[in-house]
Order: sequence, then C-alpha cells, then structure tokens
Amino acid sequence: MTQELTSPSPAPQAPGTGRGPGWWRDAVIYQVYVRSFADSDGDGIGDLRGARERLPYLKDLGVDAVWLTPFYASPQADGGYDVADYRAVDPLFGTLQDADDLIRTAHDLGLRVIVDIVPNHTSDRHPWFQDPELARQRYLFRPGKGESGELPPNDWESVFGGPAWTRTDRGDWYLHLFAPEQPDLNWDNPEVHTEFEAIMRFWLDLGVDGFRVDVAHGMIKAPGLPDIGHGAQAQLIGAQVLPFFDQDGVHAIHRAWRRLLDGYGDALGRQVIGVAEAWAPTAERLALYVRPDELHQAFNFQFLNAPWQADALRSVIDASLAATASVGAPTTWVLSNHDVVRHTTRLGGSLARARAATLLMLALPGSAYLYQGEELGLPEVTDLPDEVRQDPAFFRGGRATGAAGPGTDTESAPDGVATAGGQDGFRDGCRVPLPWSGELPPYGFGPGGSWLPQPADWSGLTVAAQTGDPASTLELYRAALELRRRLPGLGDGAMSWAPAPDGVLAFTRPGLLCTVNTLGHDVGLPAPGTPLLSSAPVTVDDATAQLPGDSCTWWAI
Ligand code: GLC
Repeated sequence: MTQELTSPSPAPQAPGTGRGPGWWRDAVIYQVYVRSFADSDGDGIGDLRGARERLPYLKDLGVDAVWLTPFYASPQADGGYDVADYRAVDPLFGTLQDADDLIRTAHDLGLRVIVDIVPNHTSDRHPWFQDPELARQRYLFRPGKGESGELPPNDWESVFGGPAWTRTDRGDWYLHLFAPEQPDLNWDNPEVHTEFEAIMRFWLDLGVDGFRVDVAHGMIKAPGLPDIGHGAQAQLIGAQVLPFFDQDGVHAIHRAWRRLLDGYGDALGRQVIGVAEAWAPTAERLALYVRPDELHQAFNFQFLNAPWQADALRSVIDASLAATASVGAPTTWVLSNHDVVRHTTRLGGSLARARAATLLMLALPGSAYLYQGEELGLPEVTDLPDEVRQDPAFFRGGRATGAAGPGTDTESAPDGVATAGGQDGFRDGCRVPLPWSGELPPYGFGPGGSWLPQPADWSGLTVAAQTGDPASTLELYRAALELRRRLPGLGDGAMSWAPAPDGVLAFTRPGLLCTVNTLGHDVGLPAPGTPLLSSAPVTVDDATAQLPGDSCTWWAI
C-alpha cells in the first residue's frame, strides 16, 4: 500500500457539510457486480481494473454513483459475500492500489463510489474463525440437542437450504444463516462492533462515499435462539419478523454507524452514506432502518416484488412513499440485482414491460438502483448447464434466490416475485458477464473467456450494437437519465396521482406527467401533453393519445 492511499480523493461536488439534504436523496446508483462487469486480465473474471476502464461508459450513461459488490479477499464460496479479510482485495479482482485507482478515477469523472460491507457473517477462513478461542467468542456456537448433541441447537434453516447449523469436530455447532462457509458473527461481543467500525474507517480513508450493508436486518438474533416451529421458513423471510431477521436490536448498530458516517462526513466536508439491504415484512418496518439517526437508504424490495398490475404497483408506491415520508427519508426503487431474476424475464419475459417498468421507476421520487446489464435489456440466462453453476444455494439443495426475500419457492411464487421465470430460482442466470461488443462470446467482456457462458445470441445486445440506435434499450436509459438531470425536482420533488382508466397509472411530477399502461393492448386517452420520452412508440391524433400495451410515457405538461 502506498502513502497515497491514506489521502482520499475528493468526492464530486463535495458539499460543505456531512449533513443536510444530500446527493443520495435522488441519486441513480449503478450496481457493478465486479466479477461479471469487465475483465482486464483475461482470466474470464471481471476485476477492478476492468471496472475502472469502463467508468467513462457509466458517466456517459448518466448515473450518479456506482456500488461495487464485494471484491475483498475471499474463498468465493458465495461470490465474495464470504469475506476472509475485509481490508484486502482478492487477487482475482486486483490489488488495493487498483481499488484506490478506481475510486480516484470515479471521483475525477464526478461519480461516487459505494462499497459492500458484510457484517452478518465472515468467511470460515477469516482469522477469527480459524482460531478456536476467538471463534468461540465472536461467532455463535451452541451445544446440540439430542442424547449426544447430535441434533442442531434449533430448527432454523439456512437461506440457501438445509439446517442453519453445522457441527464441528469438537461436537458443538455453529450458526450460519447462509452457507456453512459463512459463520454468523456474535454481535453481542463488543469486539465485533469495534472491528466493523475500523473496517468502515479503512474504506472511508480510501475515499469511498458509502456502504451497502449486506443483510442489514440479520446481525441480532432473538435471545435464547428460539425455534420457529415452521417447516417452510423460506416462505417467512421478509413476510414476518423472525428470531434471526429484522430483530429490533439491529437498529442500535445502525445508529452507531450513522454517527460514524456523519462524523466522518463532517470532518471531510462530504456526505457518506449507508444503504440497508434489509428484508422487512412491511414498508413501515423497512422505514425504521432509515430513521434520521439510522442509515440513509434501504432497498425497496416490495417494489421489486410487485406484479405488473396497475393497482398493485400503485399500492406499493403509495405504501413506500408514505412509510419513508413518516421518517423523512427518500424512497428508493430497484427492479433488478445480483440476487433476483432480471426484470426483463421476471415481468413475463417481456422487454416491453421491462422498459416500461424502468421508465416508471425513474419517474418516481427518490433514488433508483440499476443493476448492470439492465440498461441493455439483458434477459435472465435460464439454460446454464449444471457444471458451470456457482450459486451455493444450487449445491445446498436450497430453493432459490435465498438471500432475497419471500416467495423463494418457484413452484408457489406468485407471478411477478423475485424468482419468477428464472432457472430453478438460482442466482447464476442474472450474473452472466456483460456483452460489450463484437459478434461472439465473450463479446468484449475481456481478452479471455467468461466465468459463466454467455448466450450465443447476445451480439445484438452489446453496448456497441445498441449505442446510437434510438430504439435501443441503452439509448432509452441514457435519455431517461439525461431528462432526470435536466428536470430539477424530478428526483426528490412532489408526486400526485392523476385520473386514469383501469389498468393505467398516471401521475404528475415536477415538469412532467407519467402514464403507464400495464395492459397488453393499446389504451386511448386524452393526450396529457407532448411526449418527452416513451418506452414504446406513442401516437397522438386529434388530442387523443394511444398508449401502446405495456408502455410508459413521460409527457411534458
Ligand atoms: C446478500 C447478498 C447475497 C448474499 C447474501 C449473503 O443478500 O446480496 O448475494 O448471498 O447476502 O451474504
């Protein structure tokens, strides 16, 4: 590590204080799944240099910030969400110098950088877990039940399938809500708190603008680790408070982190944020994570899980806005990420719906998260052969996007939930490396191959193929993001519903009116203004607008 690394590069347009209305309230944040974004060295795995080289693309796309998924030293039992050293870069992804270079380049371009922090569990290769004495204090070990302790201490299931407990050679058991290689930390131990605050300071010193907090609802377990007494726990995740998820005790941790982030921001004259990946049963409980003294944002998975129906979308939007307004936080919106089926496929395999859903999302007040490749309209890859699968849930016989929320059983999942349309509900199909250019795999992803095979028919979906084509999904995203910047107040201003026929949503925002036709056929209505941008060609004749089926239009009013 060079001396330079201790002097963080200035964040773009640094405001004078770490408090007050902030950049994050209406930011569009692009998720870079590092392993699948761009590969600089030809090993078929995306890396930090590859990501840095492609930052101008993201600047040009028009996003405000990037969120990088974990690139820390890790045995990669769960795509890097099993961290062995939180202060080191895994050689697969590069070096600490590469991370520093990436942050500096992003800041030079006016992009902020958010990194993942994984506090619920570490890798089983973490030095704490490797040392039996330390492990006993800092993880959750319990004696087993049964005559000779041969049964797990309680009935909790791993999100990835199977029991949430693994027995050690010594005969006791340790808790892992995810894979056995991801032991849960004991957050009753103050040393765990101290360590995570130190890790955050380490990355803040390097210049990051915030953290995406992995499993932010998981660190605190109910006292006594009580049984759940329900055989299908995957169905309950995100649907109710569980003894291991969404316990009230997690909020004290988020309060402490907010103090740290604000203190840092004040000292450096910039705003650094925390965003919770939290699965809470209601919008109200989710809003608790973004009270003024807690994290800044929380992912809105209720929106992601909403079916493509006008009434359902309207109620989830209303509930989300009301809940966050009650605590003074901005709402966030998200349609895709590395844990769920890409929304092109999830919303019925329809690119038209996916484009419409995106324009709807970008017209809503608050901050939006984009997942790499959605701007290309990439579908989920649903025919990956078993031998290339890497999602640990696949090998555990788990059912699904596990890390994600409710309805992970694809058989019983209602239409439109996170797993609908995927390959057995597992997560590799949304993680296939991006196609950048060319006619054949790896489509410019890197000089070698790609760690998951890309479909043979993606040449028309590459960045190069779509650039400059006004009908392409990429240009639709670019145009929408440009309008978001041009229309002040669109991000964080007011919204009100306007009258609309059944199956159609209409609402006004500063500078525009948005219509969404969720039906599969055209709907005519009095033209509300002049079309500014539409996900599908809209016609206006004699003051009557024909909204194509599954479309969203922004109208200048
Ligand atoms: C989060 C991540 C997911 C990971 C899990 C365990 O939900 O998004 O990818 O498997 O946490 O860390």
